[in-house]
Formats: sequence, C-alpha cells, structure tokens
Amino acid sequence: MATERTLSIIKPDGVKNGHIGHVVSIFEDAGLKIAAMKMVVLTRKQAEGFYAEHSERGFFGELCDFMTSGPVVLMVLEGEDAIKRNRDLMGDTDPAEAASGTIRKLFAASKGENTAHGSDKPESAARELAYFFGAAFEIC
Ligand code: CMP
Repeated sequence: MATERTLSIIKPDGVKNGHIGHVVSIFEDAGLKIAAMKMVVLTRKQAEGFYAEHSERGFFGELCDFMTSGPVVLMVLEGEDAIKRNRDLMGDTDPAEAASGTIRKLFAASKGENTAHGSDKPESAARELAYFFGAAFEIC
C-alpha cells in the first residue's frame, strides 16, 4: 500500500466544542502523521471555492455559512492508505449513520455540522492539499 497524503479539516463545531485534541489523537493513535497543520477562519471566497462541486446543491449556502462561522484546523495527514483510513476514522457524513468510535459518531451533531472533512479520493486530495497548503503537497 502506498504512502499518501490527504487533507483533513476539523470544522468549526469541532473547534468550538473543544475537540481538536481528541481528533488529532484519533489520527495519531491510528498511525497517521500530522505533516502540516494550521488554524484559520475561512473567507467566504475560500469556502465557496473549496466546495465548488456542491454549488448547485440546496445546502451549499448553509455549508458555506457554517464553514466560515469560526476557526477551522487544516491538516495534512500522511501515511499508508491515508485517504481511505482518514475517511474510515471520520465515519459516515451523517453522524446518525456513522459507526461507533468514529469522529462523527463521537462529536458531530448533524450532516451539516459534522466535525470533520476528509478528501474522498486521490484526485480530491491533490486538489484540496494544493488549495490550502500550496504546491508542496500536491503529490499524494
Ligand atoms: P464534507 O465531507 O465536508 O463535504 C461536503 C459537505 O456537505 C459534507 O461534509 C457535509 O457537511 C455537507 N452536507 C452534505 N449533505 C448535507 C445536507 N443534506 N445538509 C447539509 N450539509 C450537507
């Protein structure tokens, strides 16, 4: 299995509710390395650009409102099979459907306020890492 890099975001609910350390521990305990990390408040333009593929969905405005409502933590996770492993650790988009012990089951309130984002495939990881961390992390 190849070493990969993927983007993780601890969303505004995770930061506001004091779960940064818990989420980072879940990744580190699973053997994923935090290769880079920064806390930022996204601008509207950054949120809309990041989620551009969802721009026609009914929840797009609400999603961008939420993602700009407070600080987020952006992380580059690195490790074998990191893209899928991060998704497995996050759990289903809807916390009600998420497996027990996953980040979203433990901490998320709803599909919208669901604590974590993770790139869903290598192409997304390359785009999303470049979007927030620049060319150094384009190759995953
Ligand atoms: P994320 O993995 O960040 O990527 C797209 C986001 O859209 C997703 O997590 C959810 O937070 C959000 N989303 C998906 N479906 C809905 C929905 N029905 N209502 C609100 N937000 C949603």
